[in-house]
Amino acid sequence: MDDRILDESQKENEENEEMSLRPERLAQYIGQHSLKENLGIFIEAARMREEALDHVILHGPPGLGKTTLSSIIANELGVNIRTTSGPAVERAGDLAAILSSLDAGDVLFIDEIHRLPRAVEEVLYSAMEDFFLDVVIGKGEEARNIRIDLPPFTLVGATTRFGSLSAPLRDRFGVQLRLEYYDFRSLITIVNRTAEIFEVSIDPDSAEELARRSRGTPRIANRLLRRVRDFSIVKGEPSIKLETTNHALKVLEVDPLGLDPTDHRIMRTIIETYKGGPVGLETVAVSIGEEVITLLDVYEPYLIQQGFLERTPRGRRATGKSFDYFTESENGTIDIFRNEE
Ligand SMILES: Nc1ncnc2c1ncn2[C@@H]1O[C@H](COP(=O)(O)OP(=O)(O)O)[C@@H](O)[C@H]1O
Ligand SMILES: [Mg+2]
Repeated sequence: MDDRILDESQKENEENEEMSLRPERLAQYIGQHSLKENLGIFIEAARMREEALDHVILHGPPGLGKTTLSSIIANELGVNIRTTSGPAVERAGDLAAILSSLDAGDVLFIDEIHRLPRAVEEVLYSAMEDFFLDVVIGKGEEARNIRIDLPPFTLVGATTRFGSLSAPLRDRFGVQLRLEYYDFRSLITIVNRTAEIFEVSIDPDSAEELARRSRGTPRIANRLLRRVRDFSIVKGEPSIKLETTNHALKVLEVDPLGLDPTDHRIMRTIIETYKGGPVGLETVAVSIGEEVITLLDVYEPYLIQQGFLERTPRGRRATGKSFDYFTESENGTIDIFRNEE
């Protein structure tokens, strides 16, 4: 959302800061109660059997805590973690190199696992199932197959797009965990925890407002808090006030539900240009000049969860509720933000 207005060094700072915000143990991981409970049992059982934990796939929208969970899993198991991502593993040989560097019980984390090249994915099957790799050495007449035995390890995969994993890959994950948008209470706890790490004090009504406008997403809650903190510091407040919070959110173009101008453009395009739909998401993407992938991963899931958008076999449709919310004003864009002071 506000990524575009950040310069590179500021972005890097914020990435480091994000690292420092990551809880390290399961007990510090806020919300996602049933996921936490299940995962806790699987981890404990693996420890008791002294075996590697079954492979785990974490799926859900960006910013909900998948990467955070991958290191928590390794910490709780008391093992090392190797981290890579789907697009970074270009050839089967890259995967072989990573896998053969693991110790027994280690975690290999592959972020964006849906982007793993097909040829690499196929090599991964036997590694996951029976802990061996078949690799081809040499070329032409000299080429031969060799089998490399691997230590038992745990693959933790993360994806925003569970549906685009191939069935053979999906089925090899014994533990499949879906992250949900966070509830209001959990987000308040996250905002307060982050404020404590930032060593700033925040009024309870400010923390609530940030929680309400974070689209159920810890990464967004933390990002908004960072910006609001800036406004508050400049004002010289001893504690972040609601008035400052509201002002900052208005400047940041975050509406009372946490929706940003892109959400509004998406909904208004469907409602006004396409008479409420159904319309293909590709068409909407072209109309507003956004990537389809961004709409799919970032915008659509939350609009659906909020009951504004429906998926139908013939495309996306705006719900009755969305007509009420998005067509209140005459000419759209900024005046629909109702957090006037
Ligand atoms: N359950 C949680 N409790 C506290 N903070 C969280 C939680 N989940 C995520 N976060 C915070 O949100 C940020 C984004 O989480 P991350 O694991 O990078 O998400 P993902 O990998 O799903 O995109 C992290 O910096 C972390 O501090
Ligand atoms: Mg991540």
